[in-house]
Amino acid sequence: MALLKFPEALELNIFEVIAQASEELNLESYVIGGYVRDFLLKRGDAKDIDIVAVGSGIELAQKVASLLPHKPKVQVFKTYGTAMLRDGDTEIEFVGARKESYSEDSRNPTVENGSLEDDQNRRDFTINALALSLNKESFGNLLDPFNGIIDLEREIIRTPLDPDITYSDDPLRMMRAIRFASQLNFTIERKSLEAISANNQRIKIITNERIVDELHKIMLSDKPSTGFLLLEKTGLLQYILPELTALKGIEEKEGQKHKDNFYHTLEVVDNISENTEDLWLRWAALLHDIGKAPTKRFDKKVGWTFHGHEFVGSKMVFKLFKRLKMPLNEKMKFVQKMVLMSSRPIVIAEDFVTDSAVRRLIFDAGDYLEDLMTLCEADITTKNPKRYRRYHNNFKTVRQKIEEVEERDHVRNFQPPVSGEEIMETFNLKPSREIGIIKEAIKEAILEGEIPNEYDAAYAFMLEKGAELGLIA
Ligand code: CTP
Repeated sequence: MALLKFPEALELNIFEVIAQASEELNLESYVIGGYVRDFLLKRGDAKDIDIVAVGSGIELAQKVASLLPHKPKVQVFKTYGTAMLRDGDTEIEFVGARKESYSEDSRNPTVENGSLEDDQNRRDFTINALALSLNKESFGNLLDPFNGIIDLEREIIRTPLDPDITYSDDPLRMMRAIRFASQLNFTIERKSLEAISANNQRIKIITNERIVDELHKIMLSDKPSTGFLLLEKTGLLQYILPELTALKGIEEKEGQKHKDNFYHTLEVVDNISENTEDLWLRWAALLHDIGKAPTKRFDKKVGWTFHGHEFVGSKMVFKLFKRLKMPLNEKMKFVQKMVLMSSRPIVIAEDFVTDSAVRRLIFDAGDYLEDLMTLCEADITTKNPKRYRRYHNNFKTVRQKIEEVEERDHVRNFQPPVSGEEIMETFNLKPSREIGIIKEAIKEAILEGEIPNEYDAAYAFMLEKGAELGLIA
């Protein structure tokens, strides 16, 4: 392959500096991995550059730093024989070419120094083993021993070695294969896919953090169902997210069927991905129906039911996040809230849209209202065009009503117009149960539309309520 022109975006062309440093140290170096892949795919500016040196990666990094005008700090990771420096917001990692062999029960290989070819052999996919020369004579030449460039053109994920070896050496690569297939919309070669299925149980030796990293990337791809379908097909999903595989299947009793909630869920995730880049909202879409597996019942009169699946599902979100070591902070609470409320707007949209139902929705959803509406619209997967149109029209009405009610009643992040202290003063009360009762009654009256969300009306209502309770103002 002839000389490739490196992008000029980097301030001082970093590749020329690395080439110069390599020459001074009398060693060979190459750009390798994701940067080369994305550069050839024209996938925009990659933030990470991996450099492999036939010799010491650490020494090369230090030399490069000394040649750069801003003399960046070099971070050295002695145990791994790697070093990293920053050039603007680009991270450049240096590693010596390696030959690796893996043992059965660990991801951590035994490492020896090796040639460029040894290093390319141990990489995960042919499209990630592509290297561009940073050496004087061959600067910009592509070194591609496994025809990765053809795989890039044909959009194929293939391993350089026998896939059984590549995947069992490092089972995380099974997830990476699927993640790349989903991100790049590539096909995983048949032999590779079979090897993933055969090795799927080896995913158990991978830490949850790394699995979740890959799940996030699948989730953020344009069409996440591509990744999740592959995870299911290869049997990986049952180890990672059994809550989802439990949604698979259609049961029939007395001529009544329910929909396959697994495929429905994936449709919802794809739908929502057209409207949001928000990772956690996409997670909410993935998990919105997980409570349906444990709550499924058959009732002779009404058919299949999933009573309380939203509540059960939101509890399952906590367990799932905990198991996978995902954050248990406000991100998790957000997903829980979305799951818990996931049927609310639909119920409103199905009925006649009343002001009070809309007020309650605004009150309960608070700042999450728009996200909730986005989720519920994505949840419409009916194949019946009439129903599809009707649901979407109803949602338009709900949205309009939300705007009207918001403008008039200001119930989002509701603060009661009469405070607890004022109730205590008015009726000369000490902190007691009655205060809570009156406050709740005022809130209910506002949400039901019996009184406006205003001070005077709420004050008068408080006096009335107090009198009912036998209190004297
Ligand atoms: N690699 C590998 N096996 C792994 C992880 C990484 O062989 N389990 C190799 C691949 O050659 C990969 C390179 O190390 O291209 C860099 O890894 P990483 O930065 O994790 O991935 P990228 O390919 O750069 O892709 P992305 O930045 O999209 O994650």
